[in-house]
Amino acid sequence: MTPEQLADRVLAWYAIHGRDLPWRRTRDPYAILVSEVMLQQTQVERVIERWTAWLERWPTAGELAAAPRADVIAAWQGLGYNRRAVALHEAARAIAEHGVPQDQAGWRALPGVGPYTAAAVCALALDHDVIPIDVNVQRILERALDATAIEPPPGRGHDLTQSLFDLGATICLARIPRCEACPLADGCPSRGNRYEPARRQSRFEGSRRQARGQLLNRLREAPVPLADCDDEIAALLIKDGLAEERDGMLALPI
Ligand code: ADE
Repeated sequence: MTPEQLADRVLAWYAIHGRDLPWRRTRDPYAILVSEVMLQQTQVERVIERWTAWLERWPTAGELAAAPRADVIAAWQGLGYNRRAVALHEAARAIAEHGVPQDQAGWRALPGVGPYTAAAVCALALDHDVIPIDVNVQRILERALDATAIEPPPGRGHDLTQSLFDLGATICLARIPRCEACPLADGCPSRGNRYEPARRQSRFEGSRRQARGQLLNRLREAPVPLADCDDEIAALLIKDGLAEERDGMLALPI
């Protein structure tokens, strides 16, 4: 199978089976940035309601930029990796001040925006002919083409990206792919393969992350006396801009 054939087949499949997701009905770069950051660790079903509420509350980068940091951190509750809320807030401030970046290098200069997110916003909001490579897209390209990247047909960067996300989420699954329903099965060298479960996070990393999350959740309710906090966990939150010390208390930053 050539990359061109893969693109044609996935696009034809998407026209019939593509999911109707709210962030696919906008081309607003800020709204798409928010969706991409949320989707990095949270299931699509859950992101739908959170993204919708976020955009109702802060419809533009300017409005998010003007919000107090504590409100932004509080609103991120349950979306995981709280540092991303801080970075998103900083990115909104940069966009409000300097305007919307027009290329991948410009996006990558924003806090919390790496190569994947920069490519995603350029493909999905700015219609650039680029395909962002997340784990799902990477898996499809590896299995079907033994490749690590693909160029979209001219003008199809947006649609090919969305179609690869959907194929990865519903058909080309990590462990037990549904090859019988896959538009690429005919000619895919990995057809019928099964895969081992991915390795899990170490227990130590998991518990430290959990402790950080629990302390931050207490701060979302009210400041906590520093004396009641684990020093190391409090220091980590402060370092990441998620908390600050005020009058002997640990609190969300102002
Ligand atoms: N995962 C990352 N970006 C996505 C998108 N735009 N739609 C669905 N899943 C995604």
